[in-house]
Amino acid sequence: MTPTPYAMDIRCEQLWKTYPGAAAPALQAIDLHIQANEFVVMVGASGCGKSTLLRTMAGLEDYDAGTLTAGGLPIDGPSLTRAMVFQHYSLYPWLTVLDNIRFCRQLKAHTAERTSADVEDAAGRADALLRLMGLTHVAHAYPSQLSGGMQQRVAIARALMSRPPILLMDEPFGALDAQTREVMHDLIQHVHRLERTTIVFVTHDVEEAIYLADRVVLMAPRPGRIDSIHTVPLPERRTQDMKLSPEFLQLKRHLLDRIRDTSGMKTDLDLLEQLSRSAADVASGASGATPR
Ligand SMILES: Nc1ncnc2c1ncn2[C@@H]1O[C@H](COP(=O)(O)OP(=O)(O)OP(=O)(O)O)[C@@H](O)[C@H]1O
Ligand SMILES: [Mg+2]
Repeated sequence: MTPTPYAMDIRCEQLWKTYPGAAAPALQAIDLHIQANEFVVMVGASGCGKSTLLRTMAGLEDYDAGTLTAGGLPIDGPSLTRAMVFQHYSLYPWLTVLDNIRFCRQLKAHTAERTSADVEDAAGRADALLRLMGLTHVAHAYPSQLSGGMQQRVAIARALMSRPPILLMDEPFGALDAQTREVMHDLIQHVHRLERTTIVFVTHDVEEAIYLADRVVLMAPRPGRIDSIHTVPLPERRTQDMKLSPEFLQLKRHLLDRIRDTSGMKTDLDLLEQLSRSAADVASGASGATPR
């Protein structure tokens, strides 16, 4: 299977974005350089701007200030060089698995001169992706006939069809059960090695982040910003047993603590404790007990 023909980096410099009417920026002064072929995972508390940053990289969101480039060129709209996979499989229910995978390539054919070599190449690519994703036996089934994991494999195959140098994934395995997620993790790592795409992946799940990433970008909310960036101290080729290694567990602990500290959850817990203490004071006062 021919990998992506060229690699692409993504560079954000002092990127700012505030949604109209919002109290705080969704993205504040984001500086991030994602290397070509790198696997970067963004984690952080809900509302810290992970999806906003990813959608901005996809060219689906505008930004207010700063620079954002892919392969050295400004990102100013969607492009076939940057494919996106969402949490919900977004397949076309009236198309078979094979036609869903071919769909994007067909759209491209309308914008470019199409030769018979292109058609042959597309057919070969679709077959190769079906094999890679273990979908050959369901090529002619419809999405409603597939499990969630299989539907997401179709969505990934469709995203890969145009050989995008960059793959952007927003909680792609968020709706899957734990066992299916583990299978998908190993599959996406295999895809990354084979296709040599740059992958930017968003998740809530710290374990998923460490298992997949070369680097984990930890974001913090209100304003949405990068808190810290962590190179994962594990061999490039991951195996499930590494999740029990001291390096893995130490980084997991650190990231979880940091997410709790930056999310404001700690403050809320403190507040709850304070409230229950005052409630206890009121109750003891209300009981009319007077010291003798
Ligand atoms: N379309 C929008 N219009 C206005 N505000 C938005 C919009 N999308 C996101 N926001 C706000 O921007 C901030 C960042 O949201 P974003 O969805 O990027 O966070 P997230 O880290 O992906 O959160 P989650 O983990 O819950 O998916 C939040 O305060 C959110 O309410
Ligand atoms: Mg999100």
